[in-house]
Amino acid sequence: MKLVGEIILPGDKSISHRALMLNAISYGKATISNLLRSQDILATINVLRNLGVKIEEFEDQVIVYGRGFSSLKEPQVALDCQNSGTTARLLLGLLAGLDINATIIGDNSLTKRPMKRVTDYLLSLNGKIVLTNENYLPAKVLSSKIKASEIHLHISSAQVKSALMLAALKSQDTTIIHELSKSRNHTELMLDYLGCDIEVNDLSIKLSGKKDLICKDIIIPGDLSSAAFFIIGCLINPGSAVLLKNCGLNPTRIGLLKVLDMINAQYEILNRRTYGNEICGDIYIKYQDGLRSFTIEKDLVPLLIDEIPILALLATQIEGTSIIKDANDLRVKESDRLNAIYENLKKLGGNIYQTEDGLIIKGKTELHGNIVNTYHDHRISMMLKVAQTLCKEIKIENDCVDNISYPNFVIDLQKLLK
Ligand code: S3P
Repeated sequence: MKLVGEIILPGDKSISHRALMLNAISYGKATISNLLRSQDILATINVLRNLGVKIEEFEDQVIVYGRGFSSLKEPQVALDCQNSGTTARLLLGLLAGLDINATIIGDNSLTKRPMKRVTDYLLSLNGKIVLTNENYLPAKVLSSKIKASEIHLHISSAQVKSALMLAALKSQDTTIIHELSKSRNHTELMLDYLGCDIEVNDLSIKLSGKKDLICKDIIIPGDLSSAAFFIIGCLINPGSAVLLKNCGLNPTRIGLLKVLDMINAQYEILNRRTYGNEICGDIYIKYQDGLRSFTIEKDLVPLLIDEIPILALLATQIEGTSIIKDANDLRVKESDRLNAIYENLKKLGGNIYQTEDGLIIKGKTELHGNIVNTYHDHRISMMLKVAQTLCKEIKIENDCVDNISYPNFVIDLQKLLK
């Protein structure tokens, strides 16, 4: 099979969450275009509505009305973040330091994901949150008053960093956050766009709630993490050529493009433009022979953290040994992704080994049919659907999860397949 044609990418998931939350705590009215309409984003919309935020949904736009932090009222129900780690972790920061009490819950998978990584730091800003078994949802956020502080993060996580920034906005004094390594900076860019008192210097972020945020219209760029499935689909199927339109190219998200450079894959970026503070463009890529194996480690990991499942599939189709390390955070995503990748690719005939913090994959191997499982994880599901383009006999169990980040994934993939 080959992938041929063009796709207009759905809105970026990370930026969509932030566009909703940050406009809700700004003053005025914002029209958001190309907002991702997936299950995770619907979870954020529902949570904000349950907090009293007015959000109007139209077919191609969503309007958010903000009244600063006074938009947020004590909720009458538990706030259900469903499967969305970003909703839950950012919400912990959004609510910390307000004069309200709230309970945050999630689905089976989210309830197993660590939250202490956020709340420990929120505690140092004087937030008050009680977690179940000191690490998990349900969480009770209690009324508190934020005290600005200086924080050195010991984990590279955009969700943790963003939760802290959202909490810090409730103090007039300056909070300083030092990152361990650069993670996606959409919150910083959008806060700046909305007029926040924020200054970023390499790995240090200084911000305060001194200036009111003002609602602004936002166009959301497409999601490179979604584009990744087509990019790799194209590189593993001879005769493929795709144009992926409207793709976010924020420098803190383009680890995948760095891997393409590493393996000597050629691609073109066309129509480079900016939406707000975010860079966007179209990516054109064709199938190419003779790609080199790759190593992903250290500071590169946060720049492609969600692309590792599909990069592992690519590794099975490249000559040589590819190595992924320093990626232990993948064990606490929507599934234990290192294990899910290992178990599935092994079953399909991949020459793959699992280490504590990564994978070693020897290529090139011809994949064969078998029954595989998504582990209820959208990115594992989409990776396996791309694997099916190499081998029709692959049967996927529990595959109804793409709607978490990309509801039209199968339709778009079918459109490209020739
Ligand atoms: C996200 C950050 C990343 C990423 C997730 C979305 C965000 O998680 O894996 O899909 O929107 O901030 P971590 O912050 O846990 O690395």
